Amino acid sequence: MLAGFKGLKTYVGSTAQWLHKQPCSGLQRNYSTKLPSHYLLPSGHQIPSVALGVWKASPGDAGQAVAAALKAGYRHIDGAWTYRNEEEIGKAIKNSGIPRDQIWLTSKLWNTFHAPVDVEPALDESLTRLGTEYLDLYLMHWPIAFKKGSNNELDVALTADPYPTWKKLEEMVDKGKVRNIGISNFNIARVVNLTANPLKYKPAVNQVELNFWSPQPELVEWARKHGLLLESYSPLGGNNQVKETLDVPEVKEIAQKLNITPAQVVISWHVQRGTVVLPKSVTPSRIDENIKIFALPDDLFDKLEAAATVHPPQRTFNPSKSWGLGFDIFDEDWPL
Ligand SMILES: NC(=O)c1ccc[n+]([C@@H]2O[C@H](COP(=O)([O-])OP(=O)(O)OC[C@H]3O[C@@H](n4cnc5c(N)ncnc54)[C@H](OP(=O)(O)O)[C@@H]3O)[C@@H](O)[C@H]2O)c1
Repeated sequence: MLAGFKGLKTYVGSTAQWLHKQPCSGLQRNYSTKLPSHYLLPSGHQIPSVALGVWKASPGDAGQAVAAALKAGYRHIDGAWTYRNEEEIGKAIKNSGIPRDQIWLTSKLWNTFHAPVDVEPALDESLTRLGTEYLDLYLMHWPIAFKKGSNNELDVALTADPYPTWKKLEEMVDKGKVRNIGISNFNIARVVNLTANPLKYKPAVNQVELNFWSPQPELVEWARKHGLLLESYSPLGGNNQVKETLDVPEVKEIAQKLNITPAQVVISWHVQRGTVVLPKSVTPSRIDENIKIFALPDDLFDKLEAAATVHPPQRTFNPSKSWGLGFDIFDEDWPL
């Protein structure tokens, strides 16, 4: 069984470490009762453990959601070029009056821009739209490269070997346009395929689907062993399964016992598993709710972990078919 966050611990054997920034007088007690507010990355930067996700935050909603989140205390926004709301997010950040260096901003390189020549222009577009000179984290959104201008014509060479794209991303770090680079939707085989190269900068994170329906304990354990921080996307099950997630009997029971909400149970569980969590909401009351996380007592953490891992895993999101790939992106025996 996966070991949760139990008492005085750093993030085992890895370069990513749990940090506790909340000031406290009795340090020991704080360590055993609070979840980490940040994780330490190999670069030395500290990434906040909870972010506001902005996928499917439609025009008009995205900006007000970011404004509400910053007001509620979030300092981490998880966006992407393909979410088509970067301009609105940039404006909301500017209007908040919070200095740029106090906010962790993530964006992602879309699949059509993996050709090394296209990486910097795509990044520049995100920077311009966001109204910032740098990103804190830039992710390769998928381990899938499409030919430029198409949205389903596979670039076989760059999909099989993402190293040329990665080298260009490393160059972006050296130019100061991004502070950390990472990956998203990479399974173990694909992480190994990338990291077998002589990387100048290892991936700072791997952002993957992790939720009650797809808890991926093997990936979580593997990443922990290899010092690769995971970020949990669709942590509540996404639009389609959030209701079902919050209705899980174990989730409801733990919520009742701890006098917190079902969403807070699930979001806390993700951080207690040692991952960054990216709940999306455009609803101010939920945004407020989702940033308040609580360490679950060991027995309750174990109970939820067992309930999540006992049923057959089921992803809530897999675009392999709609992209007409002819293979499953998440297959460990991927054909390329
Ligand atoms: N790298 C990738 O390929 C990838 C893929 C998917 C997602 N992501 C990232 O992960 C983020 C989150 O994933 P997601 O948007 O798929 O799913 P999610 O965060 O699991 O679920 C979002 C849904 O939950 C609802 N919700 C949020 N808080 C709630 C609460 N306290 N009570 C009840 N309902 C609540 C939201 O409704 P309202 O908004 O109406 O409040 C929305 O319908 C994305 O925004 C994105 O940043 C990345």
